[in-house]
Amino acid sequence: MTSLKRDFYRVLAVTVMCVAALASTRIAFANEVFLSLTFGGRTVRLSRTELLSSPGLRVIDVPAIAGYRRPMRFQAIPLARLIPKPSSESVQFKASDGFVANIPSGLLYGPSQPWLAIESQQTPWPPLGRDGQSMGPFFLVWLMPEKAGISPEQWPYRIVSISEAPALGKRFPALLPKTGANSPEQRGLRVFVANCSVCHKLSGAGDAAVGPDLNDPYNPTEYFQEAFLRKLIRAPASVRDWGQRSMPGFSPAVLNDAQLDDLLAYLRQMVRQRLARP
Ligand code: HEC
Repeated sequence: MTSLKRDFYRVLAVTVMCVAALASTRIAFANEVFLSLTFGGRTVRLSRTELLSSPGLRVIDVPAIAGYRRPMRFQAIPLARLIPKPSSESVQFKASDGFVANIPSGLLYGPSQPWLAIESQQTPWPPLGRDGQSMGPFFLVWLMPEKAGISPEQWPYRIVSISEAPALGKRFPALLPKTGANSPEQRGLRVFVANCSVCHKLSGAGDAAVGPDLNDPYNPTEYFQEAFLRKLIRAPASVRDWGQRSMPGFSPAVLNDAQLDDLLAYLRQMVRQRLARP
């Protein structure tokens, strides 16, 4: 072989190797997932790889988690190590499926101990529902949810971003009942924010639209008999069921009867406010 030919084959071999290396990093990159954090007006994006090599990473056992409803072992970072203490009333967790939880900042620094669980590609978590997807890659879990009455809707999973946010009612005044402090309607608003606003808007106000708007054009308290509405909130499938149904039920352990009464008082009040609109 002439030396020119040898050089040609050497260059060809190097090129093939480069292309192969590039393709494999492209594949690794395609599998990389990111979490975006916005605090103090600054956004940082952390990759799963970075999070899994964080010095704050521990292995934790969570006794019974919302969603999987069984004990699970996770690699996780205490949330307080990951995010600065927020100056806002709440912290917003957005999920890839449109679910948005606005969790009061006080709860995040309270006794319930929130951790961010991170799913690694080597040990994927079990699938959650019919779509075969898990709750990963990022999932907010609580070590002691009972200490501050953390609702199952305050366990956001498939999280894509965490950010500071003023309270939902401040950002969307249309959600506020015009009733006295400590009225059932005001308590009902808190029940709505913690459990329902994660998926439903009301009067066009709110962050999420996984389910229908609960006041616009009509409110379920207007078109459902009360007994059936209560039944639907407690166990949607006991009223009607189909393959794509996705609203979870709220058992008395999650939402006691008094809280359900407050929630319905709030929903009825919002009908009055809609009818009073010019
Ligand atoms: C995880 C998301 C999610 C949460 C949380 C949730 N819902 Fe729903 N809801 C839905 C979806 C989606 C539907 C549409 C039916 C379905 O797919 O199950 C729905 C349907 C409904 C309906 C029936 C509306 C109609 O016209 O058919 C009512 C009433 C309702 N939700 C009330 C509530 C209340 C009250 C809460 C809070 C206690 C709540 N939902 C929490 C997702 C949710």
